[in-house]
Amino acid sequence: MPAIVLVGAQWGDEGKGKATDLLGDRIDYVVKFNGGNNAGHTVVIEQPDGSREKYALHLLPSGILSPGVTPVIGNGVVVDLGVLFEELDGLQARGIDTSALRVSGNAHVIPAYNRVLDKTVERFLGSKKIGTTGRGIGPTYADKMNRTGIRIQDIFDESILRQKVEAALEVKNQILVKLYNRREMSVDEVTSELLQYAERLRPMVADTSLEVSDALDAGKIVLCEAGQATLLDVDHGTYPYVTSSNATAGGACTGAGIPPTRITSVIGIFKAYTTRVGEGPFPTELLDDSGEYLRKTGAEFGVTTGRPRRCGWIDTVIGRYAHRINGITDFVLTKLDVLSGLEQVPVCVAYDVDGVRHDEMPADQSAFHHATPIYEELPGWFEDISACRRYEELPENCRAYVEFVEQRIGARISVIGVGPGRSEVIVRHDLLEG
Ligand code: IMP
Repeated sequence: MPAIVLVGAQWGDEGKGKATDLLGDRIDYVVKFNGGNNAGHTVVIEQPDGSREKYALHLLPSGILSPGVTPVIGNGVVVDLGVLFEELDGLQARGIDTSALRVSGNAHVIPAYNRVLDKTVERFLGSKKIGTTGRGIGPTYADKMNRTGIRIQDIFDESILRQKVEAALEVKNQILVKLYNRREMSVDEVTSELLQYAERLRPMVADTSLEVSDALDAGKIVLCEAGQATLLDVDHGTYPYVTSSNATAGGACTGAGIPPTRITSVIGIFKAYTTRVGEGPFPTELLDDSGEYLRKTGAEFGVTTGRPRRCGWIDTVIGRYAHRINGITDFVLTKLDVLSGLEQVPVCVAYDVDGVRHDEMPADQSAFHHATPIYEELPGWFEDISACRRYEELPENCRAYVEFVEQRIGARISVIGVGPGRSEVIVRHDLLEG
């Protein structure tokens, strides 16, 4: 049966929870394949009494909230064990059964020194900073590539763990002390922090690649869920203002351990406007009242760091690029309700780069830094659309906006989000039908 990949099509925070909510009980496995606790999903669950419960997840795959789903932390993830158990304890306290969680023994852990280094280096960079989440993500992926990382499986053998931590600290302490004037860290403090979780972690650790492959053979449906998003991908994003992993569909193969031939569809989440946190180029960014309007109306504040998100109009050049890089088969257009009440809705259709029109994403980094958006202004709509459940119920101008965007981004918009709640969606095409 199919493996489906879910990716963000912009700079993150597109609202992936909307799609996972929608697929929820029809999925058997949800595999997080990249990133770590730099992510932030807010999942809103409507209770039987009509009230709404908000869950903020940073590390755990959102499938953890759906009964019957096996949530998996794949080998491509970097795991802060303290955060893992904090989130599990938080969910268990709210009566959620988390016992099905599987964690790859090949996933890397985020040791204390990498959290310190991430924050220290950012401070040191000053105006040249990346604007990371400060969770140790970059240094941990760097160690992985450098072959000096610590993996989940290492914490079950104290002597191996100590050897690895010792080797890492030989270098890290030089950097911390000599370069950044920070205190030295001891092998004991780093290893004991990791070891305290070993017994609770042991039953969750599995050969997740094999388990997922067996599940696919048995006809189960597997959703591979990306952290971050296309333009934060270390290869295809706005480097160096990116995260340190592959957040695009290709990352699902390496980060979950499944072959490309098993992937049958790719769902791209695309917000009806654009947001970004951290530094880096953002052609449609609005530094005026319109940006403030989007931030307030869309409640655009980071789930992980609480930072106000930078806001701008929708950019279909980015949508088209995300479609190409990921092979998106279906888009989910989120937060369309936030655009209600605008006289005109600008849609970026191309860039002007030093007097030359670019219809596609410029391959050259400096060109993207110089890109100014070319807009087409579409007439807005004033109706509250949050109660609409069928596409035909949307105001005519709103449908024209959806169809205009759809035509430019290259794949159908199958689902539209019209409000934060789980049921506040319009389904035009079933995401599982292909
Ligand atoms: P890091 O992933 O903490 O190394 O941060 C690198 C860049 O990715 C920064 O600009 C972060 O703000 C951004 N980033 C990381 N995770 C997310 C996310 O889940 N949503 C949006 N931006 C993110």
